[in-house]
Amino acid sequence: MSAPEAIPEPAPVHGKAASLAVDVRGVSRVFAGRKGASVTALDSVGLTVEPGEFVSLIGPSGCGKSTLLRLIADLDTPTTGEIRVFGKPARQARIDQDYGIAFQQAGLLPWRTVSGNIELPLELHGAGRAARRARAAELIELVGLSEFAGHYPDQLSGGMQQRVAIARSLAESPSLLLMDEPFGALDEMTRERMQNELVRICAETSAAVVFVTHSIPEAVFLSNRVVVLEPRPGRIRDVLRVGLGETGARGETLREDEEFFHVVSQVRELLHGEAPAGARGVEAR
Ligand SMILES: Nc1ncnc2c1ncn2[C@@H]1O[C@H](COP(=O)(O)OP(=O)(O)O)[C@@H](O)[C@H]1O
Ligand SMILES: [Mg+2]
Repeated sequence: MSAPEAIPEPAPVHGKAASLAVDVRGVSRVFAGRKGASVTALDSVGLTVEPGEFVSLIGPSGCGKSTLLRLIADLDTPTTGEIRVFGKPARQARIDQDYGIAFQQAGLLPWRTVSGNIELPLELHGAGRAARRARAAELIELVGLSEFAGHYPDQLSGGMQQRVAIARSLAESPSLLLMDEPFGALDEMTRERMQNELVRICAETSAAVVFVTHSIPEAVFLSNRVVVLEPRPGRIRDVLRVGLGETGARGETLREDEEFFHVVSQVRELLHGEAPAGARGVEAR
């Protein structure tokens, strides 16, 4: 009788890897195109996000920002590479509802009130009526819509609808938020107000965030790190650590700060592929 084949031990998940909110390793995503042509939306992308950290993805259209977010959310599967969320495979994190998602379109159900929309994920996962109501009320207050709990989406402005979507994404107290241009459809003033609120909400909930945006000032204002992607194939060009203090302490005055403008121009230069002026805080990935 031959010796039983050695069964390899599963690699232990410990230390730093287990404590990361997001761990993307060597991830590529190739889409098969028409007539055999294929698009490499992402090519060997590596990225980690610490718990409570705010990381923005920025880059020209088509550089793979949405693809990367969808892969982390397990709405799509990498062609190669591995993604872990809180040390688990992305699929398990989705099943465990470890993250909330918000996209550019609020995506509210028009026949449900503000409260009803926010309660939806809780309802789908079997929370009782009283618990749902209480949680929705808490979140409605958090996003400053207390007077509108009974309103329907078409009675709200775009900014208010987006706040409802953010409240809904927070319903199950996720430790991670995945946001794809959530303020993209808003006017500039509303957008800045929403950014101030998001900073406050993140400080209150300690959630990690992966945030896709086209706006350089938005990325800088919100983030601990800004990840600059480049297209065809989609790759990480640079990662810039934003040294503007705790994100939770950032407020309206920061927008006028000289240091803020400095970081904005650093990101702009990275986007345009130039060496950043005084490459402070720029790391390999
Ligand atoms: N489902 C898909 N099928 C085929 N190609 C896709 C699909 N999704 C994205 N792509 C392609 O992958 C590239 C990256 O897209 P995307 O991640 O949406 O970019 P971004 O969000 O940065 O604008 C683009 O070239 C896009 O056309
Ligand atoms: Mg996109």
